[in-house]
Amino acid sequence: MNTRAVIETEGLTKIYNAQTAVDNLSFNVLEGEIFGFLGPNGAGKTTTLLMLLGLTEPTSGKVRVFDLDPAREPIKVKGVIGYLQENMGFYGDLNARQMLRFVADLNALSFEVADERIESALNTVGLQDESLKKIGAYSRGMRQRLGIAELLIKDPKIAFLDEPTLGLDPDGTNRMIELIQQLCHEKKMTVLLSSHMLHQVQKICHRVGIMIKGKMVSQGPMEQLAQEKLGVGKEQYTLEEIYMKYFQET
Ligand SMILES: Nc1ncnc2c1ncn2[C@@H]1O[C@H](COP(=O)(O)OP(=O)(O)O)[C@@H](O)[C@H]1O
Ligand SMILES: [Mg+2]
Repeated sequence: MNTRAVIETEGLTKIYNAQTAVDNLSFNVLEGEIFGFLGPNGAGKTTTLLMLLGLTEPTSGKVRVFDLDPAREPIKVKGVIGYLQENMGFYGDLNARQMLRFVADLNALSFEVADERIESALNTVGLQDESLKKIGAYSRGMRQRLGIAELLIKDPKIAFLDEPTLGLDPDGTNRMIELIQQLCHEKKMTVLLSSHMLHQVQKICHRVGIMIKGKMVSQGPMEQLAQEKLGVGKEQYTLEEIYMKYFQET
């Protein structure tokens, strides 16, 4: 892994009306890592991702994505980030191939490049055999994997995955977790994922940031947080335990 920060924020803040959704957030994401954004519903995870993408403007503070300011250069930033939304819409009447072709067209890929990427993406997410089935008949797990395939069509350097395992059964969850690791190890992508399901992401994140009520109360490798909060070594903690400790203090 590299030590170059591909995402940096300083004092990042978002206030909606009178409510502070994201409060003075400073953190970075290193090239090639899986960074887990953890916290309960309403902690400000999605709002942070939207600011990093240039989809909503910060009230104050700084953001850099590959040295770009998403508020000023949103198109360039969207070019390097693939985004799996929390609640993705699908065109249920299309099949996966048609959907991926549509995404390729939106990204102005040539027919040859699109063809290659569609095959490769279907293969990576394990949907080749179901690629001619209508998406409307897909399970939630299949839809989420199709969402990852859509993201791969763009061949982005960074993947933002907002609650990627939400609503999945245990098998679907395991497949998604494996897929995320594959993005990191085989596709060499930097992954920023958000989740409120702690034990699932604990296994795969290099570092985590714990968010509570808009603030990142701690960040670092899991072992470090365990040591700081629980005074125990590696393998002797669960993320739930660490998280509860912070929660009680906030
Ligand atoms: N567009 C919006 N307008 C007003 N308040 C919002 C908006 N989006 C989010 N919020 C509020 O900001 C807080 C953080 O929300 P969000 O970023 O969605 O949290 P998370 O993704 O961690 O669940 C919540 O209290 C939410 O109600
Ligand atoms: Mg959210």
